[in-house]
Amino acid sequence: MGTPEATAGRPASGTPTRTSGGAVLLDGKAVAARVRAEVAARAAAFAQARGRRPGLAVVQVGNDAASSVYVRNKRRASHEAGIESFAHDLPASTSEAHLLELVGTLNGDPRVDGILVQLPLPRGVDANRVMDAVDPAKDVDGFHPVNTGLLAQKRPRLRPCTPFGVIRLAQEYGITLTGQRATVVGASNIVGRPMALELLLARATVTVCHTGTRDLRAEVERADVVVAAVGQPDFIPGTWIKPGAAVFDVGINRSADGRLVGDVAFESAAQRAGWITPVPGGLGPMTIAMLLSNAVDAACQRAGI
Ligand code: GUN
Repeated sequence: MGTPEATAGRPASGTPTRTSGGAVLLDGKAVAARVRAEVAARAAAFAQARGRRPGLAVVQVGNDAASSVYVRNKRRASHEAGIESFAHDLPASTSEAHLLELVGTLNGDPRVDGILVQLPLPRGVDANRVMDAVDPAKDVDGFHPVNTGLLAQKRPRLRPCTPFGVIRLAQEYGITLTGQRATVVGASNIVGRPMALELLLARATVTVCHTGTRDLRAEVERADVVVAAVGQPDFIPGTWIKPGAAVFDVGINRSADGRLVGDVAFESAAQRAGWITPVPGGLGPMTIAMLLSNAVDAACQRAGI
Protein backbone atom coordinates (compact mmCIF):
# COMPACT_ATOMS: atom_id res chain seq x y z
CA MET A 1 0.00 0.00 0.00
CA GLY A 2 1.51 3.33 -1.02
CA THR A 3 0.58 6.92 -0.43
CA PRO A 4 -2.68 8.28 -1.87
CA GLU A 5 -2.68 8.35 -5.67
CA ALA A 6 -0.82 11.40 -6.95
CA THR A 7 -2.89 11.61 -10.13
CA ALA A 8 -6.03 12.41 -8.21
CA GLY A 9 -4.81 15.55 -6.43
CA ARG A 10 -7.05 18.07 -8.03
CA PRO A 11 -9.89 20.15 -6.61
CA ALA A 12 -13.33 19.67 -8.18
CA SER A 13 -12.75 22.89 -10.12
CA GLY A 14 -9.60 24.60 -11.37
CA THR A 15 -5.92 23.84 -11.18
CA PRO A 16 -4.53 23.08 -7.74
CA THR A 17 -2.12 25.48 -6.07
CA ARG A 18 1.17 23.93 -5.04
CA THR A 19 3.47 24.95 -2.21
CA SER A 20 7.09 25.76 -3.07
CA GLY A 21 7.86 22.25 -1.81
CA GLY A 22 5.55 20.77 -4.46
CA ALA A 23 2.67 19.66 -2.22
CA VAL A 24 -0.86 20.44 -3.38
CA LEU A 25 -2.34 23.06 -1.09
CA LEU A 26 -5.73 21.91 0.19
CA ASP A 27 -7.65 25.15 -0.11
CA GLY A 28 -10.23 24.93 2.66
CA LYS A 29 -11.40 28.45 2.01
CA ALA A 30 -12.31 27.71 -1.61
CA VAL A 31 -13.97 24.36 -0.87
CA ALA A 32 -15.85 25.88 2.09
CA ALA A 33 -17.18 28.60 -0.24
CA ARG A 34 -18.50 25.85 -2.52
CA VAL A 35 -20.12 24.00 0.38
CA ARG A 36 -21.66 27.23 1.63
CA ALA A 37 -23.14 27.96 -1.80
CA GLU A 38 -24.71 24.47 -1.81
CA VAL A 39 -26.05 25.07 1.70
CA ALA A 40 -27.51 28.44 0.68
CA ALA A 41 -29.36 26.80 -2.23
CA ARG A 42 -30.72 24.06 0.05
CA ALA A 43 -31.69 26.61 2.73
CA ALA A 44 -33.58 28.63 0.11
CA ALA A 45 -35.41 25.50 -1.11
CA PHE A 46 -36.30 24.65 2.50
CA ALA A 47 -37.64 28.17 3.08
CA GLN A 48 -39.70 27.93 -0.10
CA ALA A 49 -41.18 24.59 0.94
CA ARG A 50 -41.74 25.30 4.63
CA GLY A 51 -42.40 29.05 4.77
CA ARG A 52 -39.52 29.63 7.19
CA ARG A 53 -35.75 29.51 7.06
CA PRO A 54 -33.75 26.77 8.79
CA GLY A 55 -32.85 27.98 12.30
CA LEU A 56 -29.58 27.63 14.17
CA ALA A 57 -29.13 28.61 17.82
CA VAL A 58 -25.55 29.40 18.83
CA VAL A 59 -25.02 29.67 22.57
CA GLN A 60 -21.93 31.23 24.12
CA VAL A 61 -21.32 31.25 27.86
CA GLY A 62 -18.70 33.74 29.06
CA ASN A 63 -16.36 35.67 26.79
CA ASP A 64 -13.37 33.49 26.01
CA ALA A 65 -11.61 35.48 23.28
CA ALA A 66 -11.12 32.61 20.81
CA SER A 67 -14.70 31.40 21.32
CA SER A 68 -16.03 34.89 20.65
CA VAL A 69 -14.26 34.95 17.27
CA TYR A 70 -15.54 31.47 16.33
CA VAL A 71 -19.10 32.27 17.45
CA ARG A 72 -19.16 35.54 15.53
CA ASN A 73 -17.96 33.75 12.39
CA LYS A 74 -20.53 30.99 12.79
CA ARG A 75 -23.39 33.46 13.21
CA ARG A 76 -22.27 35.57 10.26
CA ALA A 77 -21.88 32.51 8.03
CA SER A 78 -25.35 31.25 9.04
CA HIS A 79 -26.91 34.55 8.12
CA GLU A 80 -25.09 34.64 4.76
CA ALA A 81 -26.34 31.13 3.95
CA GLY A 82 -29.96 32.06 4.61
CA ILE A 83 -30.13 30.31 7.97
CA GLU A 84 -31.87 32.16 10.78
CA SER A 85 -29.42 32.65 13.62
CA PHE A 86 -30.64 32.68 17.24
CA ALA A 87 -27.94 34.21 19.45
CA HIS A 88 -27.75 33.44 23.16
CA ASP A 89 -24.88 35.12 24.99
CA LEU A 90 -24.80 34.27 28.66
CA PRO A 91 -22.46 35.56 31.38
CA ALA A 92 -19.62 33.36 32.65
CA SER A 93 -21.46 33.16 35.98
CA THR A 94 -24.35 31.22 34.35
CA SER A 95 -25.24 28.10 36.33
CA GLU A 96 -25.42 24.65 34.80
CA ALA A 97 -29.12 24.51 35.73
CA HIS A 98 -29.81 27.74 33.84
CA LEU A 99 -27.93 26.52 30.77
CA LEU A 100 -29.80 23.20 30.86
CA GLU A 101 -33.06 25.14 31.05
CA LEU A 102 -32.08 27.16 27.94
CA VAL A 103 -31.15 23.98 26.06
CA GLY A 104 -34.53 22.52 27.03
CA THR A 105 -36.30 25.62 25.69
CA LEU A 106 -34.34 25.45 22.41
CA ASN A 107 -35.11 21.71 22.11
CA GLY A 108 -38.81 22.60 22.24
CA ASP A 109 -38.66 25.61 19.90
CA PRO A 110 -39.96 24.59 16.45
CA ARG A 111 -38.05 27.43 14.74
CA VAL A 112 -34.74 26.04 15.99
CA ASP A 113 -33.40 23.14 13.91
CA GLY A 114 -29.86 23.15 15.24
CA ILE A 115 -28.32 23.91 18.64
CA LEU A 116 -24.64 24.63 19.17
CA VAL A 117 -23.23 25.34 22.62
CA GLN A 118 -19.72 26.69 22.14
CA LEU A 119 -17.00 24.92 24.11
CA PRO A 120 -15.17 25.29 26.40
CA LEU A 121 -17.76 26.07 29.07
CA PRO A 122 -16.82 27.90 32.28
CA ARG A 123 -15.59 25.90 35.23
CA GLY A 124 -18.45 24.52 37.27
CA VAL A 125 -20.55 23.69 34.20
CA ASP A 126 -20.37 20.04 33.18
CA ALA A 127 -20.04 20.09 29.38
CA ASN A 128 -21.03 16.43 29.10
CA ARG A 129 -24.31 17.06 30.89
CA VAL A 130 -25.03 20.00 28.60
CA MET A 131 -24.15 18.07 25.40
CA ASP A 132 -26.28 15.14 26.57
CA ALA A 133 -29.24 17.50 27.05
CA VAL A 134 -29.29 18.65 23.40
CA ASP A 135 -31.95 16.87 21.33
CA PRO A 136 -29.89 14.50 19.10
CA ALA A 137 -32.03 15.61 16.12
CA LYS A 138 -30.79 19.20 16.68
CA ASP A 139 -27.20 18.28 17.57
CA VAL A 140 -25.43 20.08 14.71
CA ASP A 141 -22.06 19.57 16.44
CA GLY A 142 -22.56 15.80 16.30
CA PHE A 143 -21.34 15.56 19.91
CA HIS A 144 -24.35 13.79 21.45
CA PRO A 145 -23.66 10.14 22.34
CA VAL A 146 -26.50 9.10 20.00
CA ASN A 147 -24.80 10.75 17.01
CA THR A 148 -21.37 9.47 18.05
CA GLY A 149 -22.86 5.98 18.39
CA LEU A 150 -24.53 6.14 14.99
CA LEU A 151 -21.22 7.17 13.40
CA ALA A 152 -19.47 4.30 15.21
CA GLN A 153 -22.09 1.92 13.80
CA LYS A 154 -21.57 3.03 10.17
CA ARG A 155 -24.92 4.86 9.99
CA PRO A 156 -23.95 8.51 10.44
CA ARG A 157 -26.66 11.13 10.95
CA LEU A 158 -25.30 14.46 12.23
CA ARG A 159 -21.51 14.26 11.94
CA PRO A 160 -18.90 16.25 13.92
CA CYS A 161 -18.01 19.26 11.78
CA THR A 162 -14.20 19.23 11.69
CA PRO A 163 -13.79 15.50 10.93
CA PHE A 164 -16.61 15.76 8.37
CA GLY A 165 -14.71 18.73 6.88
CA VAL A 166 -11.56 16.61 6.52
CA ILE A 167 -13.52 13.94 4.65
CA ARG A 168 -15.18 16.50 2.36
CA LEU A 169 -11.84 18.18 1.60
CA ALA A 170 -10.28 14.80 0.76
CA GLN A 171 -13.24 14.03 -1.54
CA GLU A 172 -12.98 17.38 -3.32
CA TYR A 173 -9.32 16.78 -4.11
CA GLY A 174 -9.83 13.14 -5.07
CA ILE A 175 -7.63 11.89 -2.23
CA THR A 176 -8.16 8.17 -1.73
CA LEU A 177 -8.74 7.17 1.88
CA THR A 178 -9.81 3.55 1.40
CA GLY A 179 -6.95 1.20 2.14
CA GLN A 180 -4.62 3.96 3.30
CA ARG A 181 -2.81 4.00 6.63
CA ALA A 182 -4.29 6.97 8.48
CA THR A 183 -2.80 8.31 11.71
CA VAL A 184 -4.80 10.69 13.86
CA VAL A 185 -2.74 12.61 16.39
CA GLY A 186 -4.97 13.63 19.30
CA ALA A 187 -7.89 11.72 20.81
CA SER A 188 -10.34 14.44 21.87
CA ASN A 189 -14.09 13.97 21.76
CA ILE A 190 -14.40 16.96 19.40
CA VAL A 191 -11.87 15.95 16.75
CA GLY A 192 -9.56 12.96 17.32
CA ARG A 193 -12.08 10.26 18.21
CA PRO A 194 -14.80 11.16 15.67
CA MET A 195 -12.02 11.64 13.08
CA ALA A 196 -10.94 8.06 13.64
CA LEU A 197 -14.56 6.91 13.15
CA GLU A 198 -14.87 8.94 9.93
CA LEU A 199 -11.64 7.49 8.54
CA LEU A 200 -12.80 4.00 9.49
CA LEU A 201 -16.10 4.69 7.71
CA ALA A 202 -14.00 5.66 4.67
CA ARG A 203 -12.25 2.27 5.04
CA ALA A 204 -8.80 3.55 5.98
CA THR A 205 -6.62 1.58 8.41
CA VAL A 206 -6.68 3.88 11.40
CA THR A 207 -4.25 4.56 14.25
CA VAL A 208 -5.08 7.07 16.98
CA CYS A 209 -2.16 8.61 18.89
CA HIS A 210 -2.41 10.30 22.28
CA THR A 211 -0.30 11.07 25.33
CA GLY A 212 0.02 7.34 26.02
CA THR A 213 1.46 6.58 22.58
CA ARG A 214 4.94 5.09 22.88
CA ASP A 215 6.53 6.07 19.55
CA LEU A 216 4.60 8.93 17.95
CA ARG A 217 7.28 9.53 15.35
CA ALA A 218 7.06 5.96 14.03
CA GLU A 219 3.25 6.19 13.84
CA VAL A 220 3.40 9.42 11.83
CA GLU A 221 6.26 8.24 9.61
CA ARG A 222 4.30 5.30 8.25
CA ALA A 223 1.06 7.24 7.68
CA ASP A 224 -0.30 7.89 4.18
CA VAL A 225 -2.81 10.26 5.77
CA VAL A 226 -2.04 12.36 8.85
CA VAL A 227 -4.65 14.30 10.80
CA ALA A 228 -3.13 16.49 13.50
CA ALA A 229 -5.43 17.71 16.27
CA VAL A 230 -3.20 18.42 19.22
CA GLY A 231 -3.38 22.18 19.79
CA GLN A 232 0.38 22.78 20.06
CA PRO A 233 2.27 24.94 17.57
CA ASP A 234 4.47 22.97 15.14
CA PHE A 235 4.11 19.83 17.28
CA ILE A 236 4.81 17.48 14.36
CA PRO A 237 8.13 18.11 12.58
CA GLY A 238 7.94 18.10 8.79
CA THR A 239 10.70 15.50 8.64
CA TRP A 240 8.26 12.94 10.09
CA ILE A 241 5.92 13.20 7.10
CA LYS A 242 6.03 10.29 4.65
CA PRO A 243 6.78 11.48 1.10
CA GLY A 244 3.50 11.93 -0.77
CA ALA A 245 1.29 11.78 2.33
CA ALA A 246 -1.90 13.82 2.74
CA VAL A 247 -1.64 16.12 5.78
CA PHE A 248 -4.72 17.62 7.43
CA ASP A 249 -3.80 20.11 10.14
CA VAL A 250 -6.65 20.90 12.51
CA GLY A 251 -4.56 22.98 14.93
CA ILE A 252 -4.97 26.74 15.10
CA ASN A 253 -2.30 28.01 17.47
CA ARG A 254 -0.55 31.29 18.19
CA SER A 255 3.21 30.91 17.72
CA ALA A 256 5.80 32.60 19.96
CA ASP A 257 6.15 35.37 17.36
CA GLY A 258 2.39 35.93 17.21
CA ARG A 259 1.54 34.14 13.92
CA LEU A 260 -1.32 31.65 13.53
CA VAL A 261 0.22 28.23 12.96
CA GLY A 262 -0.96 24.64 12.92
CA ASP A 263 0.15 21.52 14.76
CA VAL A 264 2.43 20.53 11.85
CA ALA A 265 5.58 22.46 10.92
CA PHE A 266 4.17 23.62 7.59
CA GLU A 267 7.25 24.67 5.58
CA SER A 268 9.21 21.47 6.15
CA ALA A 269 6.12 19.22 5.89
CA ALA A 270 5.23 20.83 2.54
CA GLN A 271 8.61 19.69 1.19
CA ARG A 272 7.53 16.08 1.63
CA ALA A 273 3.71 15.93 1.60
CA GLY A 274 1.61 15.21 -1.46
CA TRP A 275 -1.20 17.38 -0.09
CA ILE A 276 -1.32 19.70 2.89
CA THR A 277 -3.80 22.10 4.49
CA PRO A 278 -2.67 25.64 5.30
CA VAL A 279 -3.31 27.29 8.67
CA PRO A 280 -5.26 29.51 8.51
CA GLY A 281 -7.42 28.73 5.47
CA GLY A 282 -7.66 24.96 5.82
CA LEU A 283 -9.96 23.23 8.26
CA GLY A 284 -11.16 26.40 10.02
CA PRO A 285 -13.43 27.47 7.14
CA MET A 286 -14.37 23.84 6.44
CA THR A 287 -15.59 23.38 10.02
CA ILE A 288 -17.98 26.31 9.70
CA ALA A 289 -19.19 25.16 6.28
CA MET A 290 -19.97 21.67 7.59
CA LEU A 291 -21.80 23.19 10.56
CA LEU A 292 -24.10 25.05 8.15
CA SER A 293 -24.55 21.87 6.13
CA ASN A 294 -25.52 20.01 9.31
CA ALA A 295 -28.00 22.76 10.20
CA VAL A 296 -29.80 22.37 6.87
CA ASP A 297 -29.61 18.57 7.15
CA ALA A 298 -31.17 18.78 10.63
CA ALA A 299 -33.92 21.10 9.34
CA CYS A 300 -34.71 18.75 6.44
CA GLN A 301 -34.62 15.62 8.59
CA ARG A 302 -36.89 17.21 11.19
CA ALA A 303 -39.32 18.29 8.48
CA GLY A 304 -39.25 14.83 6.88
CA ILE A 305 -37.81 16.24 3.63
N1 GUN B 1 -15.00 24.64 20.50
C1 GUN B 1 -14.00 24.38 19.64
N2 GUN B 1 -14.46 23.74 18.55
C2 GUN B 1 -15.79 23.59 18.74
C3 GUN B 1 -16.82 23.00 17.96
O1 GUN B 1 -16.61 22.47 16.87
N3 GUN B 1 -18.06 23.06 18.49
C4 GUN B 1 -18.32 23.62 19.71
N4 GUN B 1 -19.58 23.61 20.14
N5 GUN B 1 -17.39 24.17 20.44
C5 GUN B 1 -16.14 24.15 19.97
